[in-house]
Amino acid sequence: MYQTIGFIGTGNMGSAIAKAAAKSGQAETILLANRTPAKAAALAAELPGGTLSTNEEIARTAKLIFLGVKPQMMQLVLDPLEPILRKREDRFILVTMAAGLTCDRIQDMVDLDCPVIRIMPNIPSAIGAGVVQYCGQLVTVEELDAFAALIAPAGLVDPVPESLMDAASAVSGCGPAFAYLFIEALADGGVACGLPRDKAVSYAAQMLEGAARMVLENGKHPGALKDAVCSPGGTTIQGVRTLEERGFRAGTENLPAILGMAAALDDAVAHMAENSAYVASLRDALIEKLSAIPHAALNGDRGRRLPGNVNFCFEGIEGESLLLLLDDRGICASSGSACTSGSLDPSHVLLSIGRPHEVAHGSLRLSLCEENTEADIDAILKAVPEIVTYLRNMSPLWKDKVSGKRAFVL
Ligand SMILES: NC(=O)c1ccc[n+]([C@@H]2O[C@H](COP(=O)([O-])OP(=O)(O)OC[C@H]3O[C@@H](n4cnc5c(N)ncnc54)[C@H](OP(=O)(O)O)[C@@H]3O)[C@@H](O)[C@H]2O)c1
Repeated sequence: MYQTIGFIGTGNMGSAIAKAAAKSGQAETILLANRTPAKAAALAAELPGGTLSTNEEIARTAKLIFLGVKPQMMQLVLDPLEPILRKREDRFILVTMAAGLTCDRIQDMVDLDCPVIRIMPNIPSAIGAGVVQYCGQLVTVEELDAFAALIAPAGLVDPVPESLMDAASAVSGCGPAFAYLFIEALADGGVACGLPRDKAVSYAAQMLEGAARMVLENGKHPGALKDAVCSPGGTTIQGVRTLEERGFRAGTENLPAILGMAAALDDAVAHMAENSAYVASLRDALIEKLSAIPHAALNGDRGRRLPGNVNFCFEGIEGESLLLLLDDRGICASSGSACTSGSLDPSHVLLSIGRPHEVAHGSLRLSLCEENTEADIDAILKAVPEIVTYLRNMSPLWKDKVSGKRAFVL
């Protein structure tokens, strides 16, 4: 059906598909044109039926016109060919391999409702081990079947609806680059552990080919094949775990948490003004009542502070003891400031704003949010004075202060 075919652009992919078509032996003449003609000439010398040609000649005479240029070059290449194609009275088919360009788009670019076949090849097509998905527009079933037979030597040639073409591009069109990266990274690991580079690369590549053949030949799920080589407590499962932890598989991102966080942020932004006002009212109630505790001081400015932040120093007690006793009553708080949580040292922020070491040790930070209620505030206001009194009564330091042996700081 396709005696004369032509390739406009004989770069990596154009030449790979031209070689496959030549192997099928179905085309008598393979016209080859390239911006740098030497490339097309070299290919013409190599292929049976290969003939050095021009874009215009191909547009005038080829039954299948393969467009092997980059997507961003397509319009420039097609513009001068449009009048030639328009004049043709015989049937011809444009074949696009450009990533992301639909059949409609190619027709728009050439301003003709002509038949179009869209393919998504990959680079191993050059050695007959590729994948080529294809679909057509205004093309008959017979034409598509004959086309598939023509490029069959490229490897697996499979029809897909055009709506799946981009997904197929991601898996098998781009896939070789991902696989090369994996081979290189694995080989780098081997070299880092002492393997000579050439051996490391060939071991990694041979391994990938063997693993791929097992997937294709025995039909088992890749997960089952993976499980079969992961011994309990063994080295392989440790490697699998590390790959998963480092994001090797995009699907292992914690999507529910990411989406939940996004929804929470949307909600927080939408209600920021009303929530801030409510939380600030709870904060102010706490500050007012806690300020009444003797020898206590609010840290920071009374009004110019975050709506949910209450931070006090209580002289004569340890912040950690205060936290433990609050925890006992179901009140979660912190001592110091957020940047020193998890440390027993006094907050460097409190020290920097002039609190003496001894007082900074007895600090309490309460963080409020819009889910806190007035009942929560009441519970805190009941608990804190009682606990502060209880701890002070146990403290020899406090007794010294009360008896006048030591001076009060606050
Ligand atoms: N590479 C892949 O793995 C892959 C996979 C799937 C699909 N594709 C698609 O295949 C197409 C080609 O990609 P590629 O990787 O083969 O790129 P490439 O190696 O750069 O080949 C493009 C070729 O087009 C030639 N060219 C540019 N302008 C021309 C013109 N006006 N007339 C004739 N020839 C012209 C270039 O000539 P020069 O020699 O002068 O540069 C070059 O040889 C792209 O649309 C791409 O989306 C590629």
